[in-house]
Amino acid sequence: MKMNIVGCGRLGSTIGRALTDSESFEIEAVANRTLESSKSATDFIGSGTPVGSLDDLLPADSTMLACPDDSIESCCEQIVAAQVVRPGSFVFHCSGAHSSELLSSAAAAGAHTGSFHPVKSFADPSHAYATLPGTLGGIEGDEPCISHLQSVAEACRISTFEIDAASKFHYHAGSVLVCNYLVALLEAGYQCFDRAGLSKETASQIIGPFAAETLANVERLGTTQALTGPIARGEKRLVEAQFEALYSADERLGAIYQSLGMMAVELSKNQGSAAKADLTAITETFKRDYR
Ligand SMILES: NC(=O)c1ccc[n+]([C@@H]2O[C@H](COP(=O)([O-])OP(=O)(O)OC[C@H]3O[C@@H](n4cnc5c(N)ncnc54)[C@H](OP(=O)(O)O)[C@@H]3O)[C@@H](O)[C@H]2O)c1
Repeated sequence: MKMNIVGCGRLGSTIGRALTDSESFEIEAVANRTLESSKSATDFIGSGTPVGSLDDLLPADSTMLACPDDSIESCCEQIVAAQVVRPGSFVFHCSGAHSSELLSSAAAAGAHTGSFHPVKSFADPSHAYATLPGTLGGIEGDEPCISHLQSVAEACRISTFEIDAASKFHYHAGSVLVCNYLVALLEAGYQCFDRAGLSKETASQIIGPFAAETLANVERLGTTQALTGPIARGEKRLVEAQFEALYSADERLGAIYQSLGMMAVELSKNQGSAAKADLTAITETFKRDYR
């Protein structure tokens, strides 16, 4: 089956290379905004013809739109206007947040449409390619496209699950929180250690194993039982003093401590180790405005 790739950056190059390896798919053409960028993508993939404009694409059995989310709808409209989309062919995008409704212009042209969201951080295509097998991918779309996306995923050794198109913002927020915001949270941890005078090297030696151990505990015990620390113990005076100190030093750090602290109070209530009255006092502390 021949596939065009429109927008071939971190995710597109990785999936394109995995599809090429599988020999079930042939990459027809790759279109980025410039020919130079398309060429570096086909070099990485090891197949496909690089083109410098969407107008230079020829129709294929399937088109993967792996451009940034904000460009998906307009790229789709462009390839429809350029008559690249044949009736009965497949058009899908890779956004986790948006549904296949963004591809209504292709559906109106007779294509089967869907979305395919591998739940992975494609920070570095070489590493992402090496670690792709075993990844999970959320799919949605019309029935023929769902079957097509299952074949695409299978060729990449990705296991699929179906997502409700109407809930994609919530679904994607889960990925944003546990991946992107985890990175931001670790940065907040580095900043606290820096304020305490620790070197970046010492902080890294603490943060890596500490975060890994915490994740392993969550996997093993679930979030409620994995929670430790002052809120799980109901240490209301410590929490109050720490919140005040952080807020007065840096409002952003204080705000993170506050909002995640509220979530930790909920977990602590379910865990049952801390006294209810102490957890209520901690909730009241978090309602106070220290600005
Ligand atoms: N990265 C991840 O971890 C990840 C994970 C799951 C899903 N996704 C989804 O995958 C999609 C791509 O993300 P990404 O991280 O791979 O993005 P990326 O690395 O920024 O790559 C986007 C590519 O799209 C091209 N592009 C931008 N505008 C274009 C246009 N108007 N016409 C043609 N090509 C265009 C860019 O080409 P130029 O080089 O010419 O600018 C670039 O090669 C998004 O929908 C994203 O939500 C990403």
